[in-house]
Amino acid sequence: MGKGYYISRHLATAAMVLAAIALLTIIALSVVYNREKSKNAAKFTNATTSPVPPTQKTPNEPWDKYRLPDTLSPEYYNVTLWPRLVKNANGMYIFTGISGVMFTCVKKTDLILIHSNKLNLTLFKGHHAKLTGQSGVTAPAIKTTWFQMETQYLVIQLEGKLKPGKSYWLYTEFTGELADDLEGFYRSEYMEDGEKKIIAITQMQATYARKAFPCFDEPGMKAVFHITLIHDRGTTALSNKTEKVTIDGTAVTRTIFAPTKKMSTYLIAFVVSDFKYISAKDKKGVLVRIWARKKAIEDGQGDYALKITQPILEFFEKYYNTSYPLSKSGMTMIKNKTEPWKTGVLSLTERRLFYTIRRRLPMATSRGVLFWFGNLVTLKWWNDLWLNEGFASYVEYLGADYAEPTWDMKDQTILYDLQRAFAVDSLTSSHPLSRKEEEVNTPSEISEMFNTISYSKGAAVLKMLSEFLTEPVFAKGLSNYLKQFAFGSSVYTDLWDHLQKAVDQTPGVKLPYSVHEIMNRWILQMGFPVITIDTRTGNVSQKHFLLEPEAVVDRKSEFNYEWFVPIKWMKKQQVQDQLWLLQKSGTLNLVNKNEWVLANLHVSGYFRVNYDLGNWERLLSQLESGHQVIPVVNRAQILDDAFNLARASIINITLALRTTKYLLHERKYIPWEAALRNLNYFFQLFDRSEVYGAMQAYLKKQVKPLFEYFGNISSNWTAVPSGHTDQFTQIIALSLACSTGVEGCRELTRNWFKKWMQNPHNNVIHPNLRSTVYCNAIAAGGAEEWNFGWQMFQKATVAAEAVKLRSALACTKVPWLLNRYLEYTMNPEKIRKQDATSTIGYIASNIIGQSLAWDFVRANWDYFFKMYGTGSFSFSRLISDITYRFCTPFELSQLKRFQKDNAETGFGSGTRALQQAIEKTTAKIKWLAENKEPVHQWFLSESA
Ligand SMILES: *[C@@H]1O[C@H](CO)[C@@H](O)[C@H](O)[C@H]1NC(C)=O
Ligand SMILES: *[C@@H]1O[C@H](CO)[C@@H](O)[C@H](O)[C@H]1NC(C)=O
Ligand SMILES: *[C@@H]1O[C@H](CO)[C@@H](O)[C@H](O)[C@H]1NC(C)=O
Ligand SMILES: *[C@@H]1O[C@H](CO)[C@@H](O)[C@H](O)[C@H]1NC(C)=O
Ligand SMILES: *[C@@H]1O[C@H](CO)[C@@H](O)[C@H](O)[C@H]1NC(C)=O
Repeated sequence: MGKGYYISRHLATAAMVLAAIALLTIIALSVVYNREKSKNAAKFTNATTSPVPPTQKTPNEPWDKYRLPDTLSPEYYNVTLWPRLVKNANGMYIFTGISGVMFTCVKKTDLILIHSNKLNLTLFKGHHAKLTGQSGVTAPAIKTTWFQMETQYLVIQLEGKLKPGKSYWLYTEFTGELADDLEGFYRSEYMEDGEKKIIAITQMQATYARKAFPCFDEPGMKAVFHITLIHDRGTTALSNKTEKVTIDGTAVTRTIFAPTKKMSTYLIAFVVSDFKYISAKDKKGVLVRIWARKKAIEDGQGDYALKITQPILEFFEKYYNTSYPLSKSGMTMIKNKTEPWKTGVLSLTERRLFYTIRRRLPMATSRGVLFWFGNLVTLKWWNDLWLNEGFASYVEYLGADYAEPTWDMKDQTILYDLQRAFAVDSLTSSHPLSRKEEEVNTPSEISEMFNTISYSKGAAVLKMLSEFLTEPVFAKGLSNYLKQFAFGSSVYTDLWDHLQKAVDQTPGVKLPYSVHEIMNRWILQMGFPVITIDTRTGNVSQKHFLLEPEAVVDRKSEFNYEWFVPIKWMKKQQVQDQLWLLQKSGTLNLVNKNEWVLANLHVSGYFRVNYDLGNWERLLSQLESGHQVIPVVNRAQILDDAFNLARASIINITLALRTTKYLLHERKYIPWEAALRNLNYFFQLFDRSEVYGAMQAYLKKQVKPLFEYFGNISSNWTAVPSGHTDQFTQIIALSLACSTGVEGCRELTRNWFKKWMQNPHNNVIHPNLRSTVYCNAIAAGGAEEWNFGWQMFQKATVAAEAVKLRSALACTKVPWLLNRYLEYTMNPEKIRKQDATSTIGYIASNIIGQSLAWDFVRANWDYFFKMYGTGSFSFSRLISDITYRFCTPFELSQLKRFQKDNAETGFGSGTRALQQAIEKTTAKIKWLAENKEPVHQWFLSESA
């Protein structure tokens, strides 16, 4: 098994979404695959006839600063954009636009700075813009204009000063490339009925609006937007007011959107496509529309999304105690997920896409609907991004849970937020949730804020807050906060103020400190504590949890890495009063020391828990004798805590391994998923060593009952389990059973695949199970199976299917097939350029492919560096993928050698990943030296 397993599991999860509602649309596809930058991008930076700045470049001019000066404030924009969905004479896709912004002068100035990036601006009398004064004011003449590339400004110097309190109109005309670069106004392509279709779509967050039209592109610079789109007849701009016009002899449609509310530039969005929609009105008359490819709509793929959007809307209206802000024009459109659509205005963030596609649709819809509530209040500056995103990540589960109450949505937060956040927040390279405003300036610093800490830790910490305040108090404070700041900007302390008020007004809710004081420790310092409970003495203590036991934290914390920790706990089967740990240590009132204690009940807190050995023993025996007594999320968390404590050398690895013994009886998804994630790490470490055999034998024993259970409830694998999470568990059962050789499993997958090979037009394999089946069948087979898979991959029209096959092809155990597959990654005819690095990653996750991939990448380093070195995402991923398994001194020396040999070419955006690989390998070598033997012995004794 190993990493291949993990990946296929991962895809399987996505497959579920697709199977459930088969939401195959095209936008996410382009998001996922076209991550790399357009090669044309560079052209545009120079594309303007920009005069040289008049002054000698001294670094501290206003245009050298990334933040706009506070001299001007926008009121509204009139923007007309015309995307051309066919190539122009130069083979380029472009859009043209005209845009004006009405702004007020706040402080006297003779300088206008407005963001503009990669746009070709038309010259008017030698200048890139026209300026006129309003209501009888004469605007000063423009002295000179130029582009400041580094800070992405159009700089306009004036002959005279603008007058405070007066309004001016700044007008521009421009051309931009409709590139497939996912930034600003860009294009996305998909195939329908053998025909290539182009759509034009936006991605403004975080700093790309300036690539669509010149604007004051900071979240605090809110304005009203009047947007008009010109587009081909037969295409739709998502809105409902259109007229047919002819411009320059071209018959087109003009769509004029209603003026928006006052909002930030990054929230603007629109799409031009030939999508179709279905719609429904909810009880209050909010019109919900689901837009998608024609085929998808015809196949009924939007029906489910339409159905659940309404309850989710209803939930959030209740939750926020405020009505849906978009009255009758709420629209949603499908991609892999859904987003609400408002006349010309919504936001899709690629991060959000990355983030939600792994989840289930209600979640995505929930997130979509939520988007509008969440963005009632926008951030003042990007340093507080975590509040919006973390908040949305938290409450989307509540909305999804309301729409699908039987899906255990709320419980899944521990897998998708808490544990994910723990993984990065236990490293010394982590950072606090809230950064100082002055630490976040450049576009790349801003985009770095869209990370796991903001999303997942943000969600986990807010969930903890909501739990210790109690949900009604939290909701009340929140709703007041929204009322005060709706359509305005806030900082996180405003939310604390409102929550504090709600606490003060609610008798019975007592906090040891104010909301500010408690939360500051979670927001302003990175990391989280491990709480240790010694049931012999009742002593409870906390310590900053770091995965590397010897790691040194450079970052100072004014709170000394101590937290105010709300501990919910239970003793035997009784829930106890919440305890606040306010110092390094405290005491727990234990009457009977022989009963087990379980802390972080329902995993409501953002911390790990450790116990004295006696209590661990009692918990383990409870798990084995009657695991249902312990809440399901706690079962998962016990596993995750134990393994991570062992990795940090806080407890013995054998103790962690023992938490997997009860899995024999476990049938629930969340604990199995948690176990697998942790065991996956072990597979990487041991699948090339003598430990492997014993480990396999043990796991085979553990998973056998699960495999048989699913055989039974699925009428011998012919039916789909009815329970939603059971479908996920079924994938785990099949995958783990096949990779450990449980009798009957491999035959099952081989036969399914054989049937498909015999009749390629009729794939009988259930979509839920395809990733697993393909991978196992190709691993067990030879060239014939591989070639069949390759053919099917080339023919696949459905993106999800293509990914499953592309990853399964990496599962073969035949070296020459793997080598040939590696070669394909350098041939864009075979493997698209944007898929190349992930394909190599799949191959590297195969035990046999690992060394082949490593040699291959090293041998072709110059090529890969040239191709991908600057696009940060895929490249650093490539480096971590190919080095993921490294755990021997020999591999470490190879890595260091590699670093030396290519020092000249460099590592570009992979520099950090390479450094991390070296650190991780070093740590693994050390860990293995101490733990390999006990692990081996343990597996031997348990598998006997
Ligand atoms: C949807 O999401 C899955 C999961 O990441 C991805 O593989 C697929 O390509 C995406 N796009 C479409 C159109 O299915
Ligand atoms: C863009 O301008 C920079 C500096 O002015 C120059 O070095 C570079 O060659 C130019 N690129 C193109 C494509 O013209
Ligand atoms: C912008 O101007 C440059 C130089 O005149 C030209 O090469 C480029 O194609 C233009 N871009 C667009 C989108 O028109
Ligand atoms: C901007 O557009 C609005 C709505 O069409 C219009 O009323 C207004 O006059 C326009 N402003 C300017 C300065 O053209
Ligand atoms: C367009 O929107 C308006 C106002 O929201 C509504 O009254 C009208 O019915 C809509 N028209 C169409 C064709 O949907």
